[in-house]
Formats: sequence, structure tokens, C-alpha cells
Amino acid sequence: MRIVIVGPGRAGLALAIASRGAGHQVVAVLGRDGDHAASGAANVGSTPLAVGEALPGHDLVVIAVRDGDIAEVAAGLAGSPGPITAAVHISGLASVATLAPLAERGTATGSFHPLQTLPTPEAGAARLAGSWVAITAPQPLAGALHQLAVSLGTHPFDLADEAKPLYHAGAAAAANFPLASLTIATDLFETAGVPVEAARPLVEAAVANAFEMGPRAALTGPVVRGDAATVAAQLDAVAASTPEWLDGFAAQVALIAHIAGRGDEFAAVLAAERRAS
Ligand SMILES: NC(=O)c1ccc[n+]([C@@H]2O[C@H](COP(=O)([O-])OP(=O)(O)OC[C@H]3O[C@@H](n4cnc5c(N)ncnc54)[C@H](OP(=O)(O)O)[C@@H]3O)[C@@H](O)[C@H]2O)c1
Repeated sequence: MRIVIVGPGRAGLALAIASRGAGHQVVAVLGRDGDHAASGAANVGSTPLAVGEALPGHDLVVIAVRDGDIAEVAAGLAGSPGPITAAVHISGLASVATLAPLAERGTATGSFHPLQTLPTPEAGAARLAGSWVAITAPQPLAGALHQLAVSLGTHPFDLADEAKPLYHAGAAAAANFPLASLTIATDLFETAGVPVEAARPLVEAAVANAFEMGPRAALTGPVVRGDAATVAAQLDAVAASTPEWLDGFAAQVALIAHIAGRGDEFAAVLAAERRAS
């Protein structure tokens, strides 16, 4: 494919590097900042473009600007000279309707969201292989985007436009909620004089179990067993040594108890801890 990247940032350049590595041609990198566009283009053997310049011949324009800027960039591109064959943005949240000004001038529009964290262009490009990509587009653009995703070593799947906000919330929950729990666990371990690295095999096994058995079936520990005395002892220890985490620890206990169908049982344990602390 001949690809134009609009937005020489982390995600745009990660896709540019990976696309080039997969044999596609990045025909231009368009940026609002001349230096960023020039260095981004040089990174992938491409040509820098400024806002308002005509695009070279292409098969796909990838709009890789922040979600809040997509509509404005689409409107600007719609006013630029020359045809634009097909355009996608790469937001997991924004509707494809943000590209309406382009659709109105006959451009096929969609979105192509890599379900991966792309912290820098190089690290992002390396992480893309094996990742999943959400594709929201009508045919025949959807078919071309599936082929592009497969060529990058990613797993494409179709996502309805109206499902994007919920999907994005799910992605945030998957990527960040476990890290909040690990932050608590790290502080508890360190205060107990234990390196958090010791928990790594346990955490990795729990995550593997969650994907093999489903997260509800993979839950283990005293809450799921209904062992109120053990949980009360844990809450006492947290209150005594890391009181700043008592609310957070108790909230996780309540959440797990709810998932395990033991919400009422543990409400009493947690109420007793609140009275004592
Ligand atoms: N990073 C990730 O982990 C990740 C993962 C999946 C999807 N995404 C999606 O990727 C998109 C971009 O995110 P990002 O993290 O790559 O943001 P970013 O690093 O801030 O990059 C955004 C780029 O867009 C450029 N830009 C802004 N307005 C522009 C305009 N009018 N014309 C041309 N270029 C313009 C910025 O220019 P300057 O260089 O001048 O600042 C910057 O280079 C978002 O939709 C995000 O949801 C990101």
C-alpha cells in the first residue's frame, strides 16, 4: 500500500515504521510542525509535507493525531487539493463520523485502532506484531484494512462504530486496572521487606489463568473461599502498616466478593474494619 501518515507522533510513526518494514511505502508524513514532519519522514525514508499541501498519490491516509484534533484535521484535509482515496483515524474511541468532511467529498472512511500501547515510534512498531487491531469501516475499505493489519503481523477484528466507547472503556480497564492493584501490592510487599519481583511468577500465572479459564473462574484466595478471618487479618495488617492503602485494599476485597457472589458476607467484615480503624 502507498500510505500517507498525518501526525508524526508516537502512534503515527510506529505504524509508519511497521508498515515500511512490512513492505508498504510511506509516501508522505504530514505534520503541523515542520521539524517533526521532517524527522518523522526521514525515519521511514519518506517525504515531509506541511498542512495544506497536496497529497501525493496514495491508497490510504492514516490520520494519527490526538482524538480531540481528528475532526479539525479531517476538515483541513477535505479542503486540500487533489483526491483522497481512503482515510482512517486510529482512535479506539472516536466515531468514524469525525471524518465526515472527507466522506462528504467521496473519500472512503474508517478507523484502524491498534489495541496496544505505543509509547515511542520504535517501541510501538516492535509491539505491533502479535497485537489486535479494531477495524471500523464499510467494504471494500474494511477488506483492505484487514489485509494491511495481517501484513503487519497483527490480528484484525471488526468493531461496530457504536460499540467503540464501551470497547475503549474495556481496553482501559484491561490495561490499567491491574496496574492499580499492582501499585497497592508493590507498596505492601516493600513495607513487608519483600521484593515485588517475588510476585512476578504468581501474577503471570494469574493473568495466564484468566485468559485460559476466564477471569471469574481464575479467582483464588480467601475472599473467594469465604475465609472472613483471613481477610480480617489482612485488613488489620494493612491498617497498621500501610494505612494509606486501606480504602483501596478494602475496595478490591468488596469488588472480588461481589464477583464471587459473596458481597453480603464480606460487607460485614469490611464494616467491622471501618469501625475499628
Ligand atoms: N500512543 C498510543 O499508545 C496509541 C495507541 C493506539 C492508538 N493511539 C491513537 O493514536 C492517535 C495519536 O496519538 P499519539 O499518542 O500518537 O499522539 P502524539 O504522540 O501526541 O502525536 C500526535 C501527532 O499529531 C500531530 N498533529 C496534531 N495536530 C496536527 C495537525 N493539525 N496536522 C498535522 N499533525 C498534527 C502532532 O504534532 P506535533 O508533532 O506538532 O505535536 C503529533 O505529532 C490518537 O487517536 C490515539 O488515540 C495511540
